[in-house]
Amino acid sequence: MGKNGTKIRILVIDDDAVACEFLQEALLRAGYEVEPFTSAREALKEDLSRYDLLLSDIRMPDIDGLEFLRKVHKQWPTLPVILMTAFGSLETTMEALRLGAWDYISKPFSPDAIRSLVRKALDVRELRQLRTQGQGEIREEPQFIGSSAVMVDFYKQIARVADASASVLISGESGTGKELTAHSLHQLSARRDKPFLTVNCGAIPETLLESELFGFEKGAFTGADHVHAGLLEAAQHGTIFLDEITEMSPALQGKLLRFMQNGEVRRLGGHEARHVGVRVVAAANRDIDTEAGAGRFRSDLLYRFVVRLQVPPLRAHREDIPQLIESFLKKWGYPTVRISDEAMELFMGYDWPGNVRELENALRQTLLLSPFAVILPENLPGKLHPDRTVGSPLETAERQQILQALETTAWNQSRAAQRLGIDRKTLRTKILRYGLAKEGLS
Ligand SMILES: Nc1ncnc2c1ncn2[C@@H]1O[C@H](COP(=O)(O)OP(=O)(O)OP(=O)(O)O)[C@@H](O)[C@H]1O
Ligand SMILES: [Mg+2]
Repeated sequence: MGKNGTKIRILVIDDDAVACEFLQEALLRAGYEVEPFTSAREALKEDLSRYDLLLSDIRMPDIDGLEFLRKVHKQWPTLPVILMTAFGSLETTMEALRLGAWDYISKPFSPDAIRSLVRKALDVRELRQLRTQGQGEIREEPQFIGSSAVMVDFYKQIARVADASASVLISGESGTGKELTAHSLHQLSARRDKPFLTVNCGAIPETLLESELFGFEKGAFTGADHVHAGLLEAAQHGTIFLDEITEMSPALQGKLLRFMQNGEVRRLGGHEARHVGVRVVAAANRDIDTEAGAGRFRSDLLYRFVVRLQVPPLRAHREDIPQLIESFLKKWGYPTVRISDEAMELFMGYDWPGNVRELENALRQTLLLSPFAVILPENLPGKLHPDRTVGSPLETAERQQILQALETTAWNQSRAAQRLGIDRKTLRTKILRYGLAKEGLS
């Protein structure tokens, strides 16, 4: 049933009248109410909130499907839109999904295919409505920004593997968007209405990590006074995201490997093996191969990951920086702030060892310290100015390593020092000397 228990209403737009008829026929048979249009411009004159779902062709003479989607989302942000096209390219797919299309189908398709897609979209919509009820506002899903060749190529890789159940290992420097990638994989998969659970393997002590993942039976250990299903069970049919997987102990790596081989979960202190269908997505800093080579990470577990995705560092797609900045400004409610050309040059010239997160933080800091309508070079953090003496190449490398260690450990100085193999006092001194500061002011 649609809104207020009435029949579900679907709006169909295709400039080809025959295609319109075909869709109308296919959907009427499934019991939906269908209103066909052969022009998006005409459709936009309607109050579209009367519909439960929109279906639109992409290539149309007056307003095309992507433009239509943009316009619809401005006015009715939660209305699901499915796009169709006979000219499917991965770029259009990604663009459609990036703009928030619910789904995307290539022509020709069978009546069954479109009916099942529509049913899925309506199911998910219902689920989201339930989930957002009582939560007040709808939480906006973070999305990838950037249309450089490097990023488009990366989107294609994501799009290609998203819907498979294959396990994925995401590598990339700190702040490049590994978590965002994991999210996107889930959102673009058929599992999107199932749980997406994240575990940060570096932030939880080993024993706790094990019981969190696998669960425990009552009495499994001192203090286990109740039965606890682990996250692997809780993520049934969904995705589990194991962040910082290199931080997992060898013993637990072995246990994870067994799970990935047979899909069985045995709670701590339990005998019963439960079969769990969960997609495993993990993230690691780039050095996971080194870790495996040095025997600190099990190679057999590494090979268990069917797909590897490497998130490009920001310096490999600098041309996306203006677009990233623009989207952050908009997101934070500064749509009118302008970055002068000279300042933008500095943003684009810097190397961004902390990648998009560092860019985000630098921009936030700039806005807080210089709340002006136009941002000039002198408003930018010192490190963005190339003429500043930054020290010898060796010092620069050291500084970057330290910064990376701090970022990966969420600025936990003890853990960062441990990672770097120096003591905490030395780390403190170096932090002061290099003028490092946690830049997130939020
Ligand atoms: N291409 C992008 N477009 C928009 N935002 C991005 C992009 N890449 C990263 N971000 C944003 O940058 C921040 C860092 O991204 P994320 O947490 O996914 O990185 P990460 O690789 O997991 O970092 P870490 O190695 O520190 O765990 C987030 O706020 C994310 O939304
Ligand atoms: Mg991360």
